[in-house]
Amino acid sequence: MAAMALFFREFVRTRRDTGAIAPSGPSLASALTRYVVPGSGRPRAVLEVGPGTGAVTRRVRASMGSLDTLDLAEANPRFAALLQRTHGRDARVRLLEGPVQEHELGAYDTIVCGLPFANFDEGTVEDLFGRLLGALRPGGTLSFFAYAGLPVLRRTFAGDEERRRARRTQAVIARTLQRHRFRAETVLGNLPPARVHHLAAVAPAPAYSG
Ligand SMILES: C[S@@+](CC[C@H](N)C(=O)[O-])C[C@H]1O[C@@H](n2cnc3c(N)ncnc32)[C@H](O)[C@@H]1O
Repeated sequence: MAAMALFFREFVRTRRDTGAIAPSGPSLASALTRYVVPGSGRPRAVLEVGPGTGAVTRRVRASMGSLDTLDLAEANPRFAALLQRTHGRDARVRLLEGPVQEHELGAYDTIVCGLPFANFDEGTVEDLFGRLLGALRPGGTLSFFAYAGLPVLRRTFAGDEERRRARRTQAVIARTLQRHRFRAETVLGNLPPARVHHLAAVAPAPAYSG
């Protein structure tokens, strides 16, 4: 409950960066962590970007093997302090406090991302996708979500300038999905419903239809 209250307070304080009024629910957390699976051979490296109060982090940790590692990149110092208290004693977890753009990232098998891309300008989104896709090991995946219907709401209620910004940002997201997405799923059991996108650094070859 304290996490829920903190999340809402931070939404009021920094709406653009927090991007939601409440943490992700269990069905969304489960879809986002679909590709966090313990490896049979070498340890696996996981990065979670924008973990907030840790709704998805708990699921990530539960899916990790004992030798796997988890980097948490969180920009908001109040969320980072909560994450440190909750997950800091797990030797597999390392907290990267501050915007993910300000950190030297490692190489990851799985990246789970909670960033509210739709709120950012096109340059920031382009830069973030470049960094995250560039930090994937061969065969690695990047999973992120967007609230279903949000772009339409934005177009309906926003002023001209905000509408133009949102359109440019959506174009970058659409182009990235076209190049890198190999799977998408809709999570109706979240409030609001969300669309989860799974990306690979190298776009999968189109299916043979001969
Ligand atoms: C929509 S919330 C998602 C929180 C959590 N993953 C969840 O699903 O409940 C977005 C999170 O991204 C964080 N964030 C925003 N910009 C960031 C950045 N540049 N680097 C790291 N975290 C950022 C916010 O502070 C917030 O915790």
